[in-house]
Amino acid sequence: MCGIVGIVGRGPVASRLVDALRRLEYRGYDSAGIATICEGRMDRRRAEGKLFNLEKKLDAEPLPGTIGIAHTRWATHGVPNETNAHPHFVAGVAVVHNGIIENFSELKDELLAEGAVFESQTDTEVVAHLLAKYTRQGMDHREAMLAMLNRVSGAYALVVMFEDDPDTIMAARFGPPLAIGHGRGEMFLGSDAIALSPFTNEITYLVDGDCAIMTHKGVEIIDYEGKLLKRQSQISQATAFMVDKGNHRHFMEKEIYEQPEIISHALGNYIDFAAHTVKKNDTAIDFGKVSGLAIAACGTAYLSGLIGKYWFERYARLPVEIDVASEFRYRELPLSPSQAALFISQSGETADTLASLRYCKDQGLKIGAVVNVRESTIAREADAIFPILAGPEIGVASTKAFTCQLAVLAALAIGAGRARGTVNADDEKAMVKHLAEMPRIMSRVLNDIQPEIEGLSRELSRFKDVLYLGRGTSFPLAMEGALKLKEISYIHAEGYAAGELKHGPIALIDENMPVIVIAPHDRFFEKTVSNMQEVAARGGRIIFITDEKGAAASKLPTMATIALPNVDEIIAPMIFSLPIQLLAYHTAVFMGTDVDQPRNLAKSVTVE
Ligand code: AGP
Repeated sequence: MCGIVGIVGRGPVASRLVDALRRLEYRGYDSAGIATICEGRMDRRRAEGKLFNLEKKLDAEPLPGTIGIAHTRWATHGVPNETNAHPHFVAGVAVVHNGIIENFSELKDELLAEGAVFESQTDTEVVAHLLAKYTRQGMDHREAMLAMLNRVSGAYALVVMFEDDPDTIMAARFGPPLAIGHGRGEMFLGSDAIALSPFTNEITYLVDGDCAIMTHKGVEIIDYEGKLLKRQSQISQATAFMVDKGNHRHFMEKEIYEQPEIISHALGNYIDFAAHTVKKNDTAIDFGKVSGLAIAACGTAYLSGLIGKYWFERYARLPVEIDVASEFRYRELPLSPSQAALFISQSGETADTLASLRYCKDQGLKIGAVVNVRESTIAREADAIFPILAGPEIGVASTKAFTCQLAVLAALAIGAGRARGTVNADDEKAMVKHLAEMPRIMSRVLNDIQPEIEGLSRELSRFKDVLYLGRGTSFPLAMEGALKLKEISYIHAEGYAAGELKHGPIALIDENMPVIVIAPHDRFFEKTVSNMQEVAARGGRIIFITDEKGAAASKLPTMATIALPNVDEIIAPMIFSLPIQLLAYHTAVFMGTDVDQPRNLAKSVTVE
């Protein structure tokens, strides 16, 4: 994912900006750039590839100046080359950006019609053009910044400099993080506190909807209407050598909240945000030719695979045989080389998953690895790697890796459907558009539901047993919710297909067992509501996780109803993951357990 740094300094900034970018290299990138202002002139250097290439350019043509911004780019819109590298310049405005401007096509068309000339294929460039347009219309820089922020939509961290204002850097955050560093007579800004740790440990984290105006004297934070906001600074423990919790109490909380940013980069590897298509799959696995799929994984990775099964079967008409890897490897499943096998693993080191991979390899199947660690054993032994690009996941309970696995599997299933002629161009466009909306919707959901979930978790922490129910792709999600709760709060929880309630679990229902029902208003909704009636009729207490349409449709009394935005079914599993992750997290916090390192668990189970 992209990295951003900025300095309003007392001395030359170019080398300090590049050093700060180096501390963000762990985020992954494919090009880099820097801009400074000196004696009224703004200039930049950009380079494809690693920072070394940018440094070579700076050695050949140094950039003077005591104010500057810099960026490492993870390409989402436009190929990774110098022209698409940030900072983008338009008429004395420089912009760097992390995230996705969702309405960039519409804005670009509008600007082109007004005579704007674009040099890059990026979404970011529309921001620079908008700012240039508004300042040309007579707005001052602050007015232009707020006007732009009220036009763009998506998930973004934006940092801006104006050539005629060599003492100010402006920034805005909606989704990807931004941290302000307080120096002595100089100010810093970065994607996280690690980047700023050699300069300062006094950090103010921006929250979604914040706009920061930073000069060497300090920082003013306003909302998009211009109202002054108060943000507390804190002393960060980050050093250049550790992954930073940011302003979160636990890595798990940080990883839940970074999902909007992370998922946009996972998607960027598989979908073309401009054309709204799935990128061509040029790996060794041709989904257009395989006769079927076998999937094996463990824990949360198995549950993302189970959701992937629904998608491959429904959209690509591909039969999928899936099992937990510890069972899969001993079943001696009859397999054929005409099938392909997918192994899903965050760590890429899980013993049972690796053993299942080797079993399928021996049977002559093409092997695909959906992994977070590209240099892992599972990745190395696969014929095709499908990276999920979630960045380091430190919390033992998997969160961002789960939603990134789902995003990758959704893109692969749509691409498989296109290759097999079962998904037409219009359907592909529509589904990819929904995927592209996820970062913004995730940001909104995480902002909206936090207080309600926190209060509900206090209630939930009183119980000893919890049942989760769901249908369709919400059934594996019910199991994932139960797994999250049990592994970090130690409360016993089970996830069940809602249709199975009458075949046994209904015997458990009474006021001592809350039932968490996961039900977007989809084609299963009415059936799930009748299951809820069966629960309510027996004194069961329901926590209803649905969408606005579902909340309006069901009149049943509940312990709580969490109403998420109405979303398309292709992204519902990723969006509905958020409340179940937060519910487990806050319940565990009330229980006082070790959220990041729960008892008896390891982040990667490398033994049978
Ligand atoms: C998930 O919250 C658990 N920590 C666990 O089930 C995990 O998903 C499982 O061990 C698989 O790990 P992997 O993805 O690294 O293979």
